[in-house]
Amino acid sequence: MIGYAIAIKHYTAKARAMARSPRAAVLHFLDIQKALPIVRRVAHHTPLLSSQQLSAQAGCPVLLKAECLQRTGSFKIRGALNKVASLTEEELRRGVIAASAGNHAQGVALAAREAGVACTVVMPVGASLAKVEATRGYGATVALHGDSFDQALRRAQELAQEQGLTFVHAFDDPVIVAGQGTLGWEICQDAPDAGLVLVPVGGGGLIAGVALAVKTLSPRTRVIGVQAASAPAAERSFHGRRRVRVPAAPTLADGIAIAEPGATPWPLVRRYVDDVVTVSEEAIAHAQVLLLERAKLLVEGAGAVGVAALLERAVPVTARGPAVAVLSGGNVDLNLVSRILEHGLAQAGRYQLLEVALPDRPGQLARLLAVLAAVGVNVLDVDHIRNAPGLPFGQVMVEITGETRNQEHVGEMARRLQEAGYVLVAVPVPGSTEPLQFAATE
Ligand SMILES: Cc1ncc(COP(=O)(O)O)c(C=O)c1O
Repeated sequence: MIGYAIAIKHYTAKARAMARSPRAAVLHFLDIQKALPIVRRVAHHTPLLSSQQLSAQAGCPVLLKAECLQRTGSFKIRGALNKVASLTEEELRRGVIAASAGNHAQGVALAAREAGVACTVVMPVGASLAKVEATRGYGATVALHGDSFDQALRRAQELAQEQGLTFVHAFDDPVIVAGQGTLGWEICQDAPDAGLVLVPVGGGGLIAGVALAVKTLSPRTRVIGVQAASAPAAERSFHGRRRVRVPAAPTLADGIAIAEPGATPWPLVRRYVDDVVTVSEEAIAHAQVLLLERAKLLVEGAGAVGVAALLERAVPVTARGPAVAVLSGGNVDLNLVSRILEHGLAQAGRYQLLEVALPDRPGQLARLLAVLAAVGVNVLDVDHIRNAPGLPFGQVMVEITGETRNQEHVGEMARRLQEAGYVLVAVPVPGSTEPLQFAATE
């Protein structure tokens, strides 16, 4: 507690001024260094893990900055601790308010609890139940409002005005950016030879802080931002050289589905970031499954985009040193995990649905299952349906869920079925969870 108090005292008048007029502020590496003792007091220095399997698939040595193991499940606690520590007694007395789809909410709630300060968080109505409950669990009052982060943000700003609460922005604030920068500092301590650092981008607070730290300590290390192709505002802004607003479509990486990068992090992104790329939903799902299966890490979609970029070869790897992927968060609703797994396994060709129309005669199902057994498909589930809509009289529909090895194995299964006299009726997009459809010839 004493260290914490000293760290707060050392927080300069300049940092306070920056906190009050974030847009006018300039951020320096020194601000990240000052944030270090404040952040360290509560947050973990998260591990940098190696993964042989991921390295083999990515074609270069890969290290995983496991921020999904951070307290509150994401890096957001870093910025929130730094921000709360920068507030005046009067600002603290009034209590803090934030808007968030989930991770910033938990970060601010814990930082406020540590400082003994009242905290309100406005979250969109559709926010993950697990994130809402976790935020309440840290003692915050949660108000649900609007359909999107932007609507929740406007409501939180209104409430701050009406009730005189101290607003804590998720990314558009230099004190928050400085806190997030401590993650970049840790990467440089643990992997001074990193050739590449991949950082998920939403509003840009995380990458701005990380890039400032990394380019100061290791100027030759490339820093690349990653977004979902469905929510590409920062990627478009980066390549168009000015901030643009691009509405976000639904994505597995909902934590970074922000319509416009923040004004405060933007100059740092322009100055220190080498490139911003996008990845497909398929690559995100594949990355999540791979991280769970191979690294035993549960990572949310937003946190997995860096690994997705490596798998999709969206970024040229350098020969200089390992690629570090920042796994920025691990807050996944447990009831979503099975859907993510299903999607990811389908992407990898490890899970295939099959619908086959068969004559309603003895032995037909056994014949079909024998073909699948001969090609090595492990049948997980069979549904035998006599009254499917549109099914001609005398036919049944069999729905099979099969475990396959990979996409080539799925292709081989389709070939063998055709050789055995089953006609291919419909082929889904490769890797989708739609069924492959066949009909038996009489
Ligand atoms: C898991 C995760 N990763 C990355 C980000 C992006 O952070 P920023 O908005 O600072 O770019 C967020 C933002 O909420 C997040 O929740």
